[in-house]
Amino acid sequence: MKILSGIQPSGQLHIGNYFGMMLPMINNMDKGELYAFIVNYHALTSVHDQERLAKDTMNAAFDFLALGLDPDRCIFWVQSAVPEVTELTWVLSTMTPMGLLERCHSYKDKVAKGIASTHGLFSYPVLMAADILLYQAERVPVGKDQKQHIEVARDIAIKFNNTFGETFVIPEPVIDDNVATVPGLDGQKMSKSYGNTINIFQDANSLKKSVMAIKTDSTPVEDPKDPDQCNLFNIFKLFAPADRLKEVRALYVNGGAAYGRVKLELVDILWEFFKEAREKREQYAKDPAYVQAVLAKGAEKARAKAITTLDLVRDRVGLKY
Ligand code: ADP
Ligand code: TRP
Repeated sequence: MKILSGIQPSGQLHIGNYFGMMLPMINNMDKGELYAFIVNYHALTSVHDQERLAKDTMNAAFDFLALGLDPDRCIFWVQSAVPEVTELTWVLSTMTPMGLLERCHSYKDKVAKGIASTHGLFSYPVLMAADILLYQAERVPVGKDQKQHIEVARDIAIKFNNTFGETFVIPEPVIDDNVATVPGLDGQKMSKSYGNTINIFQDANSLKKSVMAIKTDSTPVEDPKDPDQCNLFNIFKLFAPADRLKEVRALYVNGGAAYGRVKLELVDILWEFFKEAREKREQYAKDPAYVQAVLAKGAEKARAKAITTLDLVRDRVGLKY
């Protein structure tokens, strides 16, 4: 089983990214052939700052490794180290109906949020399809917001196979329903672009500040509350040990849950939860040359796979003469 997913190096990692994509990837290390990569070509659709993109690319690598991705049990690289993906993107573009891209929510959402409307942003899903199809991935773990992009990849693959003969594996999204959308501080989807995130690798003070900013209602402490409607509880339940979760749920249902106290407890739980990762991350950040070597080795392995698929594609479409 080939499992593949990527993350953009465009900001600090938050708990939505962790549950939506990183944790499923890390948990999949022994379930098949795992492909994990940092999609810096994609990030170019929103970041036009040389220093920031380069720095965030390394930061994303530190994050991934610190959280437990073992480069000996997967292929881990930076997208642009295998530039063959851009050739596949072009070939796929020539058979991607405009209507398919016009229907994508993500493009409209990003433009609405102020990201420049460019050809690259519009054709972002084609590059993502190329990412997936180039490595013949069967499963793609992502958050719910990426489901439509996987559907685009499937549509393009099916069309290509119908036109040129069996070439691509048809990928399936893997979306964990329990954490499909991690809520942010304000109850909307947690997202960098909404400024409502709880970042994993932040210092103790700013972590506390973020958690204290989780929006709650004004129900008095002693009144019963519906835990499942509470944004704070919905974040708390992702991290709290099962027995403690049961106790806090009972406080909500029977009355007595004080939001302030639950928040302080969540700060401690989060700080402890990511303690080991935080320490590991510091070590990686001190040794970027080691991490670059890991990525270079990963890119070499990824490239060997990419070249095999691209060679077949070139043959199928008539680019070999
Ligand atoms: P952001 O919305 O913060 O910009 P990205 O679009 O870079 O995040 O997402 C990276 C990965 O993390 C994707 O697989 C995405 O589905 C997942 N993800 C992002 N936000 C969430 C969330 N709130 N809940 C679950 N998964 C998420
Ligand atoms: N579009 C994805 C996101 O914003 C990132 C991504 C790029 C990706 N290529 C991919 C995810 C291939 C899975 C597979 O999060």
